[in-house]
Amino acid sequence: MGDLSVANVLTTTRTFRRKLDLTRPVPREVIMGCLDLAVHAPSGSNRQGWRFVVIDEPDLRAAIAHYYRLGSAANLSGRVPTPEQLADFESATYLADHLHEVPALVLACQSGRPPTSPAKLASFYGSIFPAVWSFMLALRSQGLGTSLTTAHLAHERAVADVVGLPFDSVTQVALLPVAYLRAGNVSPGARIPAERVTSWNGWTSSEQTQ
Ligand SMILES: Cc1cc2nc3c(=O)[nH]c(=O)nc-3n(C[C@H](O)[C@H](O)[C@H](O)COP(=O)(O)O)c2cc1C
Repeated sequence: MGDLSVANVLTTTRTFRRKLDLTRPVPREVIMGCLDLAVHAPSGSNRQGWRFVVIDEPDLRAAIAHYYRLGSAANLSGRVPTPEQLADFESATYLADHLHEVPALVLACQSGRPPTSPAKLASFYGSIFPAVWSFMLALRSQGLGTSLTTAHLAHERAVADVVGLPFDSVTQVALLPVAYLRAGNVSPGARIPAERVTSWNGWTSSEQTQ
């Protein structure tokens, strides 16, 4: 499976779309094993309000993919990608077109509905996304991959109804399509170096740090 160093896993846990193997089933125990690792993430007051709904039944995947496609089409419509954005744009369209074929869709959820105060909002989402990222890293370390997606949230209530999730007391935060990865190298993504987005002992505008 190649280099499993922390640095490699952290830099190559990419947004996998075209590289997802749509033909290879993912055993439930593999997903559960990764979720077992993910729930070691921190959460505010150690509340652990996360819930995960794994969907591997074809009709349910198709129903969710339908709403994802609607959200994705609305997000992408009217946008003219720059040449640098084109590959990402096309791969996002590919994922939307094939979502129903991905072996498992994982809905990451947080108990409650989003609060309005900035501090509470930070705690609300900050108490689930570390677990989401840990899940993504755990998958990557075992030869699987996913993408952190949110396009379905434009139709959050309809998706909640598909899986019988109580919308009024549980918030979906992300949809993670899980599959084994097709063979091939994975390169780190394009990122602005930390040096350019960091200042010491006081704020420095990013223009000055470049
Ligand atoms: C909060 C969030 C929401 C995202 N929503 C979507 C989405 O709905 N659909 C999608 O295809 N990608 C989605 N992405 C993936 C980003 O487009 C992706 O992380 C970015 O292009 C970097 O890709 P890379 O990690 O492969 O370099 C989302 C990422 C984040 C962090």
